[in-house]
Amino acid sequence: MKRFCIVGTGGRGTASYAEPILKEFPGRIEIVGLYDINPLRCEACKQILKRPDIPVFTDFKAMLDTVQPDGVIVTTKDCTHAEYVLECLKRNIAVYSEKPLCTTRKQCMDIRRAAARSSAPAYVTHNMRFGPDMAKFKELLQNGAIGKVLHIQFTETLDRFHGADYFRRWHRLYDNTGSLLIHKASHHFDLINWFADSRVKTVTGQGALSFYGRKGAFRGKRCSTCAYAGDCEFYADVFASEHNRILYREAEKADHYYRDGCVFDRKIDIPDTYAATMAFENGIIGSYSLIAYASYESMHIAVEGSEGRLEYIKRYGTSWAVGHKNSNKEVSLANDGEDLDDSRTFFMLTEMGKKMERIPEVQVTGGHGGADPALREALFCGSGADPLGQRAPMEEGIQAVLVGISVMDSIRAGGKLVNVQTGKML
Ligand SMILES: NC(=O)c1ccc[n+]([C@@H]2O[C@H](COP(=O)([O-])OP(=O)(O)OC[C@H]3O[C@@H](n4cnc5c(N)ncnc54)[C@H](O)[C@@H]3O)[C@@H](O)[C@H]2O)c1
Repeated sequence: MKRFCIVGTGGRGTASYAEPILKEFPGRIEIVGLYDINPLRCEACKQILKRPDIPVFTDFKAMLDTVQPDGVIVTTKDCTHAEYVLECLKRNIAVYSEKPLCTTRKQCMDIRRAAARSSAPAYVTHNMRFGPDMAKFKELLQNGAIGKVLHIQFTETLDRFHGADYFRRWHRLYDNTGSLLIHKASHHFDLINWFADSRVKTVTGQGALSFYGRKGAFRGKRCSTCAYAGDCEFYADVFASEHNRILYREAEKADHYYRDGCVFDRKIDIPDTYAATMAFENGIIGSYSLIAYASYESMHIAVEGSEGRLEYIKRYGTSWAVGHKNSNKEVSLANDGEDLDDSRTFFMLTEMGKKMERIPEVQVTGGHGGADPALREALFCGSGADPLGQRAPMEEGIQAVLVGISVMDSIRAGGKLVNVQTGKML
């Protein structure tokens, strides 16, 4: 039986790790310690789990000293992952960090050095690699189905429910996340790197805060006390969900963190609109764009190869999201489940575009389109075989973050070319 600790007992730590570990891994993994900078959130997590017996610690190192765990899952605020990952690497304790692995270039370099010295298994939970469609995409590319990859195009549009929610939470401040290019796009840059099977050499970026923050016509402090609640398109009764009330509202006394901050707060300092170009070491060229206020939520990936094209268009329903007018009470903490509004197109063109093959859908259940349960099984208890390389070691987490950091640096420098590996402006 493996003994795991979880650091960061918010939405993801509770709903995507603690809860499913108790359900999916009985007799294989037990949770032997919880730590969060907000002690009330640890208590909330235990209340949701209905497991008052799980030990809670007020100090991370003391937790490691006391329980000597076999593994630690890091699900704290993005900018704080590195300190926990580094401590585990130093002690040779297996560590599983949520994406993004970290948020600064210095943290990337510190983790690279520590990982090289450590004997512990260390992975970033890049769950998108475990969705059946993305795994199929990788398999087709790896098998040479469209020849040599030449160009990768990736666009994500977050809608005004899911996208807006990033601007209510800690995610909206650069110091916490390094922007959505790291917090959100680390998923996408990781997929792009994985598909390209290479490292990004240089990037350029453009970005703007075009919709939220100071762009709003009016603002309050938070939805629950807002004078504009009746008029604002972005008003959300975040605490209608019992889990949100227990995890966040009732824990406010300890850290004064408001889960329902105003999306038009003038303090918001990250863009909501991003575009980037990428050049890979193996010659592939890529383009990326992300907006967080779209008319509908979608992901579009198109890879052109020397002998064909793979294209994937997914439209996502977001009725699970906080603020969605249909389902305030049923909001999920971590997008657990499928949505009636989901639709999908996945096809491959070969023979100069004359032959089209539709890629059939594989039905799976579980969070993030079945990716979460598959990731948990593979990372926590998987056997050695990993033919697609779905388990992302520290270096691959670092590469996803370095792309985001470099694109953001380019945006700040007015679109200059940036060397991703060194950080130099060219
Ligand atoms: N892979 C995915 O699909 C996915 C989905 C959601 C979230 N995430 C990641 O999971 C992480 C947590 O996100 P969340 O949605 O649960 O956020 P959250 O706000 O619900 O939880 C974050 C927790 O971290 C704690 N925390 C903050 N600073 C800390 C520190 N210095 N030390 C210890 N604890 C600290 C907070 O008190 C909070 O309980 C983020 O890094 C996010 O990127 C990944």
